[in-house]
Amino acid sequence: MSQPGSSESIKSVLHETRRFPPPADFTAQANISSEEQYQEMWNRAKDDPAGFWGEIATETLSWSKPFDKACEGTMPNTKWFGGGQINACYNCVDRHALTWRKNKAAIIWEGEPGDTRVLTYGDLQREVSKFANVLKQLGVETGDRVTLYMPMIPELAIAMLACARIGATHSIIFGGFSADAVADRNNDAQSKVVVTADAGWRRGKEVPLKSAVDESLKKSTTVEKVVVVRRTGSPVNMVPDRDYWWHDLMAKASADCEAVAVDAEHPLFILYTSGSTGKPKGVLHTTAGYLLGAQMSTRWVFDLREEDTYWCTADIGWITGHSYICYGPLANGASVVMYEGAPNWPDNGRFWEIIEKYKVSIFYTAPTAIRAFIKWGDEWPNKHDLSSLRLLGSVGEPINPEAWMWYHKVIGAERCPIVDTWWQTETGAIMISPLPGITSTKPGSCTRPLPGVVPDIVTKSGKSLGPNEGGLLVMKQSWPSMLRTLYGDHDRYLKTYFSDIEGCYFAGDGARRDEDGFYWVMGRVDDVLNVSGHRLSTMEVESALVSHPLVAEAAVVGFPHEIKGEGICCFVIPKGQTPEDAAKQDLINHVRKQIGALATPDQIRFTSALPKTRSGKIMRRLLRDIAAGKESQGDTTTLEDYTVLAKLREEDE
Ligand code: WTA
Repeated sequence: MSQPGSSESIKSVLHETRRFPPPADFTAQANISSEEQYQEMWNRAKDDPAGFWGEIATETLSWSKPFDKACEGTMPNTKWFGGGQINACYNCVDRHALTWRKNKAAIIWEGEPGDTRVLTYGDLQREVSKFANVLKQLGVETGDRVTLYMPMIPELAIAMLACARIGATHSIIFGGFSADAVADRNNDAQSKVVVTADAGWRRGKEVPLKSAVDESLKKSTTVEKVVVVRRTGSPVNMVPDRDYWWHDLMAKASADCEAVAVDAEHPLFILYTSGSTGKPKGVLHTTAGYLLGAQMSTRWVFDLREEDTYWCTADIGWITGHSYICYGPLANGASVVMYEGAPNWPDNGRFWEIIEKYKVSIFYTAPTAIRAFIKWGDEWPNKHDLSSLRLLGSVGEPINPEAWMWYHKVIGAERCPIVDTWWQTETGAIMISPLPGITSTKPGSCTRPLPGVVPDIVTKSGKSLGPNEGGLLVMKQSWPSMLRTLYGDHDRYLKTYFSDIEGCYFAGDGARRDEDGFYWVMGRVDDVLNVSGHRLSTMEVESALVSHPLVAEAAVVGFPHEIKGEGICCFVIPKGQTPEDAAKQDLINHVRKQIGALATPDQIRFTSALPKTRSGKIMRRLLRDIAAGKESQGDTTTLEDYTVLAKLREEDE
């Protein structure tokens, strides 16, 4: 991992003084409604994590066998709820279906073409039990891995909960990844079964999934069976004794399937995410701690109430969808809106139409989407009645204060608190966020840590920094929903998160804490890009480029992008003569094929040399300046060849 800057602290340039206290009527009804309550919870969780979380876990989760000890050992090898047995699916489905909530809407689904389905908790229990039996019949046992590569349809939630029901570990791959990416992840997780669909809908076009699975299986060594949901009806190739239609298997499946009690630390899911080296990391989350984190953060941050209609616009293929479409809200017995498609189909008003149609009260989206809405114009939200909204959320990247203000005014009508939630795939649940009933928000700040979260801002050598000094964001204490390992590579887990700062989890982000103790996250300090809120490693894109026959060497950096937050700029040294401009499209397509559409480069720049240090490390800082069209600010004294920068600028003209 590369370290930030050469000085000990990071310079922070953002100064924001506006404050937005919660409306009194919001505070009056909030789940956490006083500063004293928060302080008491936070201090207790810090001083006595086992006592704090132990009580909450006993009170709010349904256990098959009570745990002996809430928390043992220290980070990075903490064990939570040892001796306890539990089932995540039971907690998200059965315990509601067994009460009056059996006829409460669990999932209110809207397909992109406008078709809709509502599944009550009773329906969900039936469908999940049936699919759990299907998985068993296909040979899936407790502890096996199952890959889900699906569109945003109810079957995705059903399949993940069915895995949890029988103690199989799901590995969900976002539908925007390519066949090669699916094959890599299947092999790494040693998945036995893949669940997919013929295709999904996106902006009126079909996103083929089954054909990508077919291609990926040429390279997968462990997958035995494939289940295919019919979504668009397009013809697909079905291989006998390997591929089965979801509806055929479900028609014969029994709706009676016991939820298997698994150990608290049983692996619930693997989710691959990008790190600063080429190979994606299989972040592993376990059952009880993860579920508790997702459940409690939903209650505290979204102030969830029985009658809310809650909508998180993320794809379930990312951690936000795992924790805040599925596990968190369903553990709370909430009604969740799930939408299949794009925000601008058939027109730019689709999200606002959905809010009006279902009377959504809590809306959780990403800054990249908010920036697109701003660009499309206020007339789209203004056409719809958004008065059902009472709370807004943001996640995925720092939200720029102007986007925050637009969200507050145009969507929230200056009435709805905004929760800017900082967290990561690795943290499993929201870590730093306003509590909407008590926090006076500042646009651009994710404010303060939740109870049980003990962050700090430190220098590279681990020294705590004072107010407004930028540094590295770390966690000093274990929390229940933290990742437990990187699948199959515990050494990499230790090295990636725990080797930089002694005794701390290092998140990879730079941040500062202001005089009120509010956190301001500045973004990644390692070689990770944040493109539309999606994490990509510069190395992954570089490896993809270098695998093309035209490319000798490549360096990839991010640059500021109006909508996506960061765009992808690739500096490429070709083999031999500089190719025609047409070759750029070839390279772009090649990266898409290797990684997926989400990694589509915005710029390819052919160059004859790259700036390097004397030890041969590419000086990305300088490339970032060039990509952003800025004069180089930084120190160039270690540059191996001073003429390279000048050459790169010439090539730019
Ligand atoms: C960034 C998404 C600032 C951050 C849940 C983090 C944020 C990475 C915020 C994790 C926020 C996420 N403010 N930055 N509110 N939320 N980030 O794993 O850089 O896809 O490390 O998890 O996104 O991305 P991931």
